[in-house]
Amino acid sequence: MTSNQPIRLDAAHFDNKARQWDENPVFQERGQKIAQAIRESVPLHRRMSALDYGCGTGLLSFPLRDALGAILLADSSRGMLDVVAEKIAAQGAGNMKPLKLDLLADPPPAQRFDLIVTSMTLHHVPDTDHILRVFHDLLQPGGYLCIADLDREDGSFHGPAVDVHHGFDRADLSQRAAQAGFSGMQFQTVFSITKENAGAARDYPVFLMTARRAA
Ligand SMILES: C[S@@+](CC[C@H](N)C(=O)[O-])C[C@H]1O[C@@H](n2cnc3c(N)ncnc32)[C@H](O)[C@@H]1O
Repeated sequence: MTSNQPIRLDAAHFDNKARQWDENPVFQERGQKIAQAIRESVPLHRRMSALDYGCGTGLLSFPLRDALGAILLADSSRGMLDVVAEKIAAQGAGNMKPLKLDLLADPPPAQRFDLIVTSMTLHHVPDTDHILRVFHDLLQPGGYLCIADLDREDGSFHGPAVDVHHGFDRADLSQRAAQAGFSGMQFQTVFSITKENAGAARDYPVFLMTARRAA
């Protein structure tokens, strides 16, 4: 029997995408643009410890690596992390380390971070409030959270077969972040993804939200 229920994109899905991920120039440019906006919005420094959650192949972290101290690149997909490990070795990026981690299922690391960045991953996490609380707990007092994701859309970005959040309403996400203990939420549009839908090109803006855990 077949089911028309939308499916979640699991680790196996991303394992299969990992080897080709960096061949997509849109993904590359998106990582660069988000990194640039983070550099302009957060006072980064070389003693800052960072977590990139749902790092994929590290397209956000690699452009930030010279501005930061230790960076933990965490993802639930082993395939993505294998690519990250190869890139770390090839570039001699001694301050970067991959970690297989799903914060919905695994215990959080004991370490606390000065910065958490996450790009295009929040819409894959079913319980937004829960992950925001976990991010809050993982940050040092005064630490920064940077979330880049899709603005609210009608579901056409992934299509009806896929079970994800249809982007985020900025005011709603800001309220949820405040409930999780964050303050100073700021939003900016950092990128736009153009996709063909039913023969027509359509733009999906990507926001960057920056926020802080209380000092
Ligand atoms: C759309 S990709 C974005 C990858 C990368 N951040 C980028 O911007 O190119 C989403 C990533 O989130 C990861 N992911 C999805 N759910 C996750 C979870 N619960 N825990 C950790 N990683 C997750 C996927 O394996 C995938 O690498």
